Amino acid sequence: MINSRWEIWLDGLVKRALFWSPFRSYLLYKYRYAFTPAQLARLTTLLTEAAVVPGDCGEIGCYRGYTTVFLNKHLDEIAPTKRYWAIDTFGGFVASDVAHELQIRGKQAAADRRALNKFTINSRHWFERALRFNGVTRVTTCATAIQDFNFSEDTQFCFVLLDVDLYLPTKAALEKLWPRLSPGGIIVIDDCQPEHVYDGSRQALQEFSAAQGLVFEVLETKLGVLRRPR
Ligand SMILES: C[S@@+](CC[C@H](N)C(=O)[O-])C[C@H]1O[C@@H](n2cnc3c(N)ncnc32)[C@H](O)[C@@H]1O
Repeated sequence: MINSRWEIWLDGLVKRALFWSPFRSYLLYKYRYAFTPAQLARLTTLLTEAAVVPGDCGEIGCYRGYTTVFLNKHLDEIAPTKRYWAIDTFGGFVASDVAHELQIRGKQAAADRRALNKFTINSRHWFERALRFNGVTRVTTCATAIQDFNFSEDTQFCFVLLDVDLYLPTKAALEKLWPRLSPGGIIVIDDCQPEHVYDGSRQALQEFSAAQGLVFEVLETKLGVLRRPR
């Protein structure tokens, strides 16, 4: 907390120096969400709807925690006692998942290859520090590929944001999450727009829904939504 005139003057000096340095981007506000404002609003509404039923919240694929912080700030207001799971490799995509996109799903274009190399510069430590920095304390973090993670028998979910982008991890996650979803619970699968480098998410959701006899909807262009009826 900056109080005295001297501290305010020094703070201004440091920030002005930063602005004229190569580190300007660390000073300026940047919108970092991979969701538009309308998509964030929709996530907030869906979380509010699901939070009234029993079970934890979760985010599979949480990267550096931008949406984790956002949704947890909302939970502080509407359901402060809910647990929130955050599961990620914290090192980007799994090699065998990428190989499947390249070899089986034909994602060979240069732009596709670049997209399949994203999210590698990350760490669980950075993620957890970001949560603490924002006063978020309810999150249980697991650093693992979702394919390798086993929830305990009694784990139940009311809301999950599934955001791992590729076919194989989305398929594996849906198989693990659906049996644990409470009646009235919601799974939101990101990247369900067709004809996109990450359309493996949509394919996994389509196949899973067809096999289980479920109907999903796509909201705000790319949010696949699966609801378990009450
Ligand atoms: C699009 S980012 C998630 C963005 C985050 N939900 C947000 O809104 O800020 C995708 C994340 O999925 C993670 N990921 C990819 N494959 C995974 C897997 N098999 N298991 C767990 N996490 C995975 C990546 O490490 C990356 O951090």
